Amino acid sequence: MAWLVTGGAGYIGAHVVRAFASADIDTVVLDNLSSGHREFVPDGIPFVEASITDSVALARLFADYSIDGVVHLAGYKYAGESVSLPLVTYDQNVTGTARLLEAMANAGLSRIVFSSSAAVYGTPSVDVVTESTPTSPQSPYGETKLIGEWLMRDQGVATGLAHTSLRYFNVVGSGSDDVYDTSPHNLFPLIFEALVDGRTPKIFGNDYPTPDGTCVRDYVHVADIADAHVGAARALMAGTALEPVYNLGSGSGTSVGAIMSSVADVTGIRFDPEIHPRRPGDPSRIVADGQAASRDIGWAQRHTVESMVASAWSARQAHA
Ligand code: UFG
Repeated sequence: MAWLVTGGAGYIGAHVVRAFASADIDTVVLDNLSSGHREFVPDGIPFVEASITDSVALARLFADYSIDGVVHLAGYKYAGESVSLPLVTYDQNVTGTARLLEAMANAGLSRIVFSSSAAVYGTPSVDVVTESTPTSPQSPYGETKLIGEWLMRDQGVATGLAHTSLRYFNVVGSGSDDVYDTSPHNLFPLIFEALVDGRTPKIFGNDYPTPDGTCVRDYVHVADIADAHVGAARALMAGTALEPVYNLGSGSGTSVGAIMSSVADVTGIRFDPEIHPRRPGDPSRIVADGQAASRDIGWAQRHTVESMVASAWSARQAHA
């Protein structure tokens, strides 16, 4: 028996596959390689190249492999870009998730761990969000992640599907040098691309109401995020009731300015970031309480910001 990891060739999914392997749980990967990389999937892991919107491919996969449960990460993941691509975002994240749930129901599969996002909160009015902080997504991406959570809940009511949704905060770092964040839109990869190309990294806005004027985020290490999926899968396999949603946040925030300083320290490259105007839609601060996830699925922030920067840089350099 194995767990299916949709999006398992992506940066986070590839770490989930490695975490399951470390826990002696077999996986099968489904990915359409739109943003994932075939080489991120370790040798020996069955790989199916298909979209979650492809019902025929899903039915075939569930017929071909004996699957215990699903970790569902596949989807369109760029919050800012989703504003100009709402239909693509809804197709991948809502239609795709509905098709996956339908195929699971047809195959008699009843466990799922869903990849959700801090984006469901939009700009929170509290310093530290908990799972009961009201949701208020500000982008099609955030909307579709919230709808995904609702699909889990509704399918749970309708069919007894055992589910939980993990709201990731800012996922960074690398658990091993063979996988790195290839996103063209996020802070860490953009800083590294600039440094590798001999350009100066940019800060989008230094006039926010934060201690150093730059945005504050809750950075979490991708290997810790991946381990939480193992905890969730194990709980579902044991029949333990889980909350419908968990924040995977550390409770502490780091500014973009502090990340830049840490990058300079870790890389030994001295630079004064270029200050650019605010990026539209950025909340000044978003930090989450992860205590519920610690209690129920063994979530823990085991890494410092410095080790997140160092591991991310090491993996990026390995692919230079
Ligand atoms: N930033 C810069 N310079 C850059 C890139 C980013 O200053 O070159 C800043 C952004 O303005 C923001 C911070 O760095 O203040 C973090 O930006 P990211 O794009 O890395 O991350 P976000 O906080 O915007 O987005 C993350 C996830 C999304 C999720 C969102 C929810 O990447 O998937 O959190 O809040 F939707």
